Order: sequence, then C-alpha cells, then structure tokens
Amino acid sequence: MNNWYREDLAYIHDIGFRSYALQAMPGILAILKQHGIQDGLIIDLGCGSGLAAEELVRVGYQVLGVDISAAMIAIARQRVPMAQFQLDSLFQVEIPNCHAVISLGECFNYLFDPESQTLTQVFQRIYNALTPGGVFIFDIAEPGQVTNATPIKSFTEGDDWIVLVEKQEDSVQHLLTRRIITFRQVGDYYRRDDELHALQLYSTEEITTMLYQLGFQVETGNCYGQFALPHAHVAFVAKKPIVFLKEQV
Ligand SMILES: C[S@@+](CC[C@H](N)C(=O)[O-])C[C@H]1O[C@@H](n2cnc3c(N)ncnc32)[C@H](O)[C@@H]1O
Repeated sequence: MNNWYREDLAYIHDIGFRSYALQAMPGILAILKQHGIQDGLIIDLGCGSGLAAEELVRVGYQVLGVDISAAMIAIARQRVPMAQFQLDSLFQVEIPNCHAVISLGECFNYLFDPESQTLTQVFQRIYNALTPGGVFIFDIAEPGQVTNATPIKSFTEGDDWIVLVEKQEDSVQHLLTRRIITFRQVGDYYRRDDELHALQLYSTEEITTMLYQLGFQVETGNCYGQFALPHAHVAFVAKKPIVFLKEQV
C-alpha cells in the first residue's frame, strides 16, 4: 500500500490539487439532499486526504473513508478525527450498510491493485450495501484524455514543491499512463520521487450498462452542481430504487 501516492505526492495532491474535491462537494451535498439523505453513514472510496470527508462530517454525516495510499490515509486521519479511515483497496474492502457511496477523482480508473475485482463486482457490492433509496455518486475518466500521438508534458508548482507529469494514452487498449516526478523541499534541498500511474479508461456507455444491469437507476452528467468536470470525465448518480411491495389482498 506504499507504492502510489507516497508521502510527497500525497502532500502535493492535498495542497495543490484540493480544488477538485472542494469544488465538487457543494454539488455532492445537494445531490444527497435531493435524495432525502440528510444523515447516516457515507462511504468515500478513494478518499485521498479526507477533503470530502471533512465537508461531510461538517454537515452531520458519519464517514468511512477508504484509500490504498498510507500517506493519504495519514493526512485524512489528522484532518478529520471524527471520521473513520481504512487503509485498503476499494476493490477488496468490505462495504458496510450505508446511505451513500461517493468516489471522487477517477478512483475506479486506477490500476493500482493487482487483485482488482472487475468493476461489476465492486458495483454489485456497493448496490448490496446501499439502503433502498441510497445513492452511489462517482466520476470516471473516459478515453480521449490525450488526443495527440506524442506524450503531453506539463508541470504544476507550489511554494515548496513542483510536480512534472508526462501522460500518454494507448487508444486501442484505452490505457492512460502518467509518469509523475515530484520535487519537494526538505530543508535546503529538494527531494525527488517518481511514480508511474496506469489507468484503464471507460466509456460512459459501458459504465451505464453495468449499473443498469445491477438494478441502479442512472443519471450521468459533466458536472457536480456548479463544478464542471475536466475534459473527458463523467459524473454518475446511481440510485438503488426503493421497492414498494404490492399490498397483499
Ligand atoms: C485523484 S486521487 C482523488 C482523491 C480524493 N477522492 C479527492 O478527490 O481528493 C485518487 C485516489 O484514489 C486512490 N485509489 C486509487 N486506486 C485505489 C484502490 N484500488 N483502492 C483505494 N484507493 C485507491 C488513490 O490512492 C488516490 O488517493
């Protein structure tokens, strides 16, 4: 559990890339409210540094966050002592009964866990764990992240760090690779670390079909409330229907 989002990338993600979760949360809270979910347990799969958990706890939900990165979980525990956090793979964790499951930031795309179950198996376990009327809110990255044949190189910097990313997409296998180099200031020096992230890209249609087949009612969009998702990302709101039994005569 120490191979990805290690200490420096977890720190940089928390400081430099927090706007995704923070801008998404007002929309997520509105969706929960629209579905009548005002309290109870919310599971955050791929919770990262606990940014979404903090917002959920602030408005009265109980939260269990799950992440495969020990460094992310360490930041999350410090940020939100009122929430529970578990170091585990979202593909393997036991999902307790809950009112909603959220997963922000393309967590289902990552190929970090070699024991990954198929997405359908995870979605089935989420469906089973949700109370009737519960919702599963998440986003995924679609093919088309990199349209050039040549890799794209970019960098982002903060006060005491810089991150360099080279990304390329295999348009046949729908695989995205991000080579990530971080430099973080430690005393008078900058410490270097390297990570390689592989992501399987999925189309909206494949995910929607999986969810429908499991019994979810599905809505898709390209935003969470006012927050527009980045290019080629899709948000899903999948509801477990409330089954009304016919009155016996
Ligand atoms: C882009 S970050 C998003 C973090 C957080 N949801 C946010 O919005 O700030 C993706 C997160 O997914 C986690 N992740 C990827 N694969 C995972 C897996 N199989 N099980 C649990 N967490 C995973 C990573 O460790 C990372 O924290």
